[in-house]
Amino acid sequence: MNTLHFLNTQDWPRDRLDALLDEARNFQKSRIGTALQGKSIALLFFNPSMRTRTSFELGAHQLGGKAIVLAPGKDAWPIEFEIGSVMDGDTEEHIAEVARVLSRYVDLIGVRAFPKFQDWSVDREDHVIRSFARYSTVPVINMETITHPCQELAHIMALQQHLGTDLRRRKYVLTWTYHPKPLNTAVANSALLIATRYGMDVTLLCPTDEYLLDPRYMEFAQQNASENGGSLGISHDVESAYRDADVVYAKSWGAIPYFGRWEQEKPIRDAHQHFIVDEAKMALTNKALFSHCLPLRRNVKATDAVMDSPACIAIDEAENRLHVQKAVMAALVQPGMENGE
Ligand code: CP
Repeated sequence: MNTLHFLNTQDWPRDRLDALLDEARNFQKSRIGTALQGKSIALLFFNPSMRTRTSFELGAHQLGGKAIVLAPGKDAWPIEFEIGSVMDGDTEEHIAEVARVLSRYVDLIGVRAFPKFQDWSVDREDHVIRSFARYSTVPVINMETITHPCQELAHIMALQQHLGTDLRRRKYVLTWTYHPKPLNTAVANSALLIATRYGMDVTLLCPTDEYLLDPRYMEFAQQNASENGGSLGISHDVESAYRDADVVYAKSWGAIPYFGRWEQEKPIRDAHQHFIVDEAKMALTNKALFSHCLPLRRNVKATDAVMDSPACIAIDEAENRLHVQKAVMAALVQPGMENGE
């Protein structure tokens, strides 16, 4: 029997995503439930978090369940992921045991595992969460690896709250924005996937072609756009990309060709600090909504004026993490979900 996981929205049919969003809206109206009564989830954080940890822990509690937070390598043993490894280094136990033992204790496993930022050809395999999914006998939930599907659902839910459920042909700009460090492409990949999945006319605005996202996600986004009546374009021109936009979504990420040699990328990134989201750019739009996954460095990625404007729905999006994750957890523990029935 195959276990159904929530690793990427792309693996889930659109009607199932819509059902999760409907359930999330129910959870927003009525926060307390019993869907996880007697159930538990292990939340494994290989990287820091504020929103994800709080919303998963609280969400499990509000549905009658129990969340156990583990930080492998800090408060839990460091884990080996290589098959056939001679474990004479720093790792103390193998994923083959970790995932199977946890599966005997808990009903769900959540994993946050960012890229290592040294070699994208390695990071793009999403080896950590794929290994959990391989060995686990309970559903695994992606809490951000090289995509961030829970953020995607929270984002779409926020857009639907403000623009209505039919988002087709809305002009959506995913803009790269400056950050002093090279960051994960996960939220950018996810934004492309979900905005095209919901039929929006999506523009990826970034400094140069070097900041294009992995071809896997560019191709999925192109396919989604074709199947859902939207479009996908690329722009390096700030003014034309912002003009008449209905939605501006900002994220910073490191350029994939520079993985492992970030000192060579830094001058390019530093030369594009003007990609900051500010009032002048937002004034070019069709009174666009602005959002960001958070955390956000104010006056680096977006100005105070944008963050404090009525157009900013980042707090709504963050709230929605709680509702959509409850919907995901509740769906995955339902009997009969094993084969995606
Ligand atoms: N957006 C998000 O995942 O926030 P955290 O990193 O705080 O969990």
